[in-house]
Amino acid sequence: MGAELSLLVPTAQTIAVSAYIDSLKDVQYTVPLGTSRFLKTVKCVDKSGSIVVKVLIKPGPSTSNNNGSNEDGFKLEYWVTKLDKLRQGLISIPNVLPFESIIDSQRAGYLIRPYVRYNLYDRVSVRPFLEPIEKKWIVYQLLSSMAKLHAKGIYHGDLKTENVLLTSWNWCLISDFAIFKPVFLPEGNPSLFSFYFDSSQRHVCYVAPERFVASDDAEVEELNKANGELNWQMDIFSLGCVIAELYLESLPIFTLPQMFKFKRGEYYPNLDAIDDLNISKMIQSMISLKADDRLTAKEYLTRYRKTIFPDYFYTFLHTYMNNISGSITESESVNQFTCFNDTNEVRHAWNGRPYAKINFSSILTK
Ligand SMILES: Nc1ncnc2c1ncn2[C@@H]1O[C@H](COP(=O)(O)OP(=O)(O)OP(=O)(O)O)[C@@H](O)[C@H]1O
Ligand SMILES: [Mg+2]
Repeated sequence: MGAELSLLVPTAQTIAVSAYIDSLKDVQYTVPLGTSRFLKTVKCVDKSGSIVVKVLIKPGPSTSNNNGSNEDGFKLEYWVTKLDKLRQGLISIPNVLPFESIIDSQRAGYLIRPYVRYNLYDRVSVRPFLEPIEKKWIVYQLLSSMAKLHAKGIYHGDLKTENVLLTSWNWCLISDFAIFKPVFLPEGNPSLFSFYFDSSQRHVCYVAPERFVASDDAEVEELNKANGELNWQMDIFSLGCVIAELYLESLPIFTLPQMFKFKRGEYYPNLDAIDDLNISKMIQSMISLKADDRLTAKEYLTRYRKTIFPDYFYTFLHTYMNNISGSITESESVNQFTCFNDTNEVRHAWNGRPYAKINFSSILTK
């Protein structure tokens, strides 16, 4: 959505997100999960259990820009179509968690998906701590999922430990594919990075160095419009940062200033605390400054078969666990994913539960 939205979206202090959740019938606000200005994330309950609702508060009707807002409010049709297409691409890929429902109302856009027990950032510091083989299992799932996504030409764009969700049996679910975030960012304007990529305010940077461009905001905006395509090398870099954090007990390897120094060759993260040399070598390759030096996810899986990853991950465990866990992500068919505008209907179809068909007009109280 580019820089324009970052200037238009109301700040957390000026709005009460619960008021937006209250307008969804049968959805009960529980607790906010994030402090992001961009999308407000809230844990809620509905008839089927715990869910996560991400709310995009639309700029007021009086505000106008070239990116879809007009007198009737900010229009999301373009993004709804893109999310629908993304969701169709994700069906049948293991270890991903797409949004199950989208609501585009006049005052806000809502993205809804099931609540998952942990994210990777929290799980690393929760007892019982992850055993070495569990860490390898998590890395294997992430690489395997990336290999399948990249083979389909789908790129995540914002891989980080908060976007890797984990069930209590360590099944990974990658969430929040960043199709509405800018690909390129101006080096001179960290506020755009903070708005889109630092929602947890940990000041950690997982964004590949080649995505920072030494141009002004307007030029970068143009670049994003003209040539703003993600690629697999960008995801591999972010994945390298995630894996490093997993092995460094939640210690991130890049802050934003360190990323700029890394680009200039003045900083290199310290990976000495990782005692598995193969893991360390793999991370170093993934975070290569030159994107061409990074390997594909499939190549890492092949290269480290039987050294990092035991053979039974490939021959048995992943398929077996996917069969057991798959119902979380495969909500029967793509037809049950419903993007709906003000007058249409809503269907909930996650966790393999039967979906309820609800008239949308009765969901929003206004
Ligand atoms: N479906 C979910 N189940 C459980 N926790 C979730 C779920 N979705 C998000 N979270 C957690 O809620 C918190 C806020 O999520 P949110 O996605 O808003 O922030 P983020 O992941 O830091 O940023 P981004 O918007 O860039 O993805 C994070 O800690 C995230 O891991
Ligand atoms: Mg997220």
